[in-house]
Amino acid sequence: MKIFICDVCGHLEFNAIPDKCPVCFAEKDKFVQNDSIFKESSEKSPEAEIKHVPAVTVNKQCGLVPESPCVDIIVRVGKTMHPMEEKHFITFVDCYQNDAYIGRAMFTPLGVYPAACFHLKNAKGKITVVENCNIHGYWKSEAAL
Ligand SMILES: [Fe+2]
Repeated sequence: MKIFICDVCGHLEFNAIPDKCPVCFAEKDKFVQNDSIFKESSEKSPEAEIKHVPAVTVNKQCGLVPESPCVDIIVRVGKTMHPMEEKHFITFVDCYQNDAYIGRAMFTPLGVYPAACFHLKNAKGKITVVENCNIHGYWKSEAAL
């Protein structure tokens, strides 16, 4: 799979470069291709997997949006919670449905845990969750809906 990285905000796009970054609106020339970005992280720090691979739960009975068939993607980084310290923290979690970006949770290091919930309108296909650690790079998980 082709992977393109926004040089401005770190957002990843799969398969093709968008006209503008959907997160920071940078122009398409800011994207650089690196198809092995996830492989690089896991090879650099193989022992770090348990704290970095996003743990994803699909909840098909959402309590927050009961008026529509809302499905929740609940994410924590990772199975063992990643530290959130000024020098070492999870900067964001991006969520994709069928390889198309649908939303981001951004974090500050001191006030929150590296966890998020995305409320899907349409519960079909494949979910990909990408997280970025300021030291250990990019990690991802996939889940079927
Ligand atoms: Fe880390």
